[in-house]
Amino acid sequence: MARWLGLSEKGNDGLHFMEQRPVRDNPLYNQNRMKIGIIAMNCSHGSTITTADNSWKMTWPDTREVSVMADRAGFEVLLPVARWRGYGGETNFNNRTFETYNWAAAVAAVTDYSCIFSTSHVPLTHPVAAAKQCATIDHISGGRFALNVVCGWFKNEFEMFNAEWREHDVRYEYATEWLDLVRRIWTEENEFDFEGRWFTSRNIWSQPKPIQKPMPPVMNAGGSEAGQKFAATQADMNFVILKQRDIEGGRAQIRKLKDMAREAGREVQSWIHVYVVCRETEKEARDYLNHYVVERGDYVAVNNLLEIFGMQSETLPPDVLDEFRFHFIAGHGGYPLVGTAEQIVDEIDTLVRIGVDGILISWVDYKTECRQWIDEVMPLMEQAGQRRLFEANGG
Ligand SMILES: Cc1cc2nc3c(=O)[nH]c(=O)nc-3n(C[C@H](O)[C@H](O)[C@H](O)COP(=O)(O)O)c2cc1C
Repeated sequence: MARWLGLSEKGNDGLHFMEQRPVRDNPLYNQNRMKIGIIAMNCSHGSTITTADNSWKMTWPDTREVSVMADRAGFEVLLPVARWRGYGGETNFNNRTFETYNWAAAVAAVTDYSCIFSTSHVPLTHPVAAAKQCATIDHISGGRFALNVVCGWFKNEFEMFNAEWREHDVRYEYATEWLDLVRRIWTEENEFDFEGRWFTSRNIWSQPKPIQKPMPPVMNAGGSEAGQKFAATQADMNFVILKQRDIEGGRAQIRKLKDMAREAGREVQSWIHVYVVCRETEKEARDYLNHYVVERGDYVAVNNLLEIFGMQSETLPPDVLDEFRFHFIAGHGGYPLVGTAEQIVDEIDTLVRIGVDGILISWVDYKTECRQWIDEVMPLMEQAGQRRLFEANGG
């Protein structure tokens, strides 16, 4: 049974159900200085391009086990990646994926606390269908749903749909209209018509509305100027790729985003993706990182992936490309948290000072390493004042 507060009403069948919950009660808005989540559990190999033993096979029983484990420990977010085909190589990285709305509905049904995301490629889902899928998951979760809006960055996926591959910045104009229509469907009680540049719809109707009021939160991971502008003006959370890892550079990047949002009258959270290798000694952690990246990395898959992102040898010097390769194999280009639990918590302190609100974690072995994170890293985060003890949160 979900443990959230809401307005309880008695349905026709005499059962109590929750119709409304303020979005502020979503765990995304709790008081923890560093919120935590898990990314890419719905994809084979998660975010790690390696043939190492115990890398993520992606089955439903394993997904359920890790989701429940994280939920019970008070993780704020569980987030899937929208991916339709793999990147080749020995791993065929991200070849097996669960569809993100279905994934979110199922994960919502087995959890009580975490905010459950779906990730939606806006050009591949009609907003009328998307709005209803989101509302459905918001009801299943008891008002814990959020939507990650992505415009697409892998052309081959769009060819599977025969979908138009628009010019880069136009994708964000399209996403703005798409989201505008979704939000109207979430909030307008009366039937309405919509006349836009891409969507023309008559007599639009959708019930039930989402439980969260005024509406569920939206996240975006745009990194370009157009993407950041979209994130700052349209989203509640921005997924940032830190361009510089020093405190001043990172802080300036995040401040710029939050200032852009404030100018548009919005408050945005900034989240980043981190890959974690936690071991008893720093040497053990570094040796394992070296093992799964250098000795067992899938270089064919990572080269395919970098080529798709336009990071080829013609455009980048070899040493820069090597560094990109390393971080993409290690954790899809995320920020490294590698070392002992104490060192990781120190590094998280730096991220707090930079202005990061939350980290989405990937590991090679989600099952074992998530358990280790809960047992060894989270108590230190609580001691360091980065998070409150979950039970004390009333979660
Ligand atoms: C952590 C993270 C998760 C992302 N998840 C997806 C995804 O699930 N599917 C997708 O097609 N793109 C995904 N993206 C790509 C972004 O939506 C975006 O296209 C990318 O960061 C490039 O920014 P730009 O579109 O502004 O050029 C993700 C990006 C990041 C950083």
